[in-house]
Amino acid sequence: MATNRTFTMLKPDSVEKGYTGAILEKINTAGFKIVALKQTQMTKRDAEQFYSVHKERPFYDELVQYMTRGPIIAAILEKDNAVEDFRTLIGATNPDDAAEGTIRKLYAASIGENAVHGSDSDENAAIEGAFHFSGREIF
Ligand code: RTP
Ligand code: MG
Repeated sequence: MATNRTFTMLKPDSVEKGYTGAILEKINTAGFKIVALKQTQMTKRDAEQFYSVHKERPFYDELVQYMTRGPIIAAILEKDNAVEDFRTLIGATNPDDAAEGTIRKLYAASIGENAVHGSDSDENAAIEGAFHFSGREIF
């Protein structure tokens, strides 16, 4: 995958609350092109693998429970400087610390249920995109 791509998930709370249309609109308006998109649901095993970097953290079990409790929207996004610009668009992990107008400020309930995922590096964007999408689902 090219380095001008990032990976996102609109997390179960976003789907439950009906925020996904508004969030995708914000992503489009910010200049990201959607090159892959699907609604899916992670199994426990999927979430444990996806977030394995956090497995020693106290919130890991809660995170896996949250991310598997309902469907998500997964997407690969393309833009110059995609990883960094998308992290700016979503805002800080804790919505209390997120800048005004960011997706987490607008749509996240708490540090645990924070509406959206954004890859933290080009390397992880490629790994995470490939975790959710096959080559023929990416345009
Ligand atoms: P993400 O990976 O989902 O984009 O979030 P992030 O980089 O902003 O934050 P990260 O440190 O990677 O944490 C991953 C997710 O774990 C949950 N979390 N809960 N209860 C807590 O203290 C806590 N801390 C993190 C959040 O869902 C966070 O997005
Ligand atoms: Mg992270």
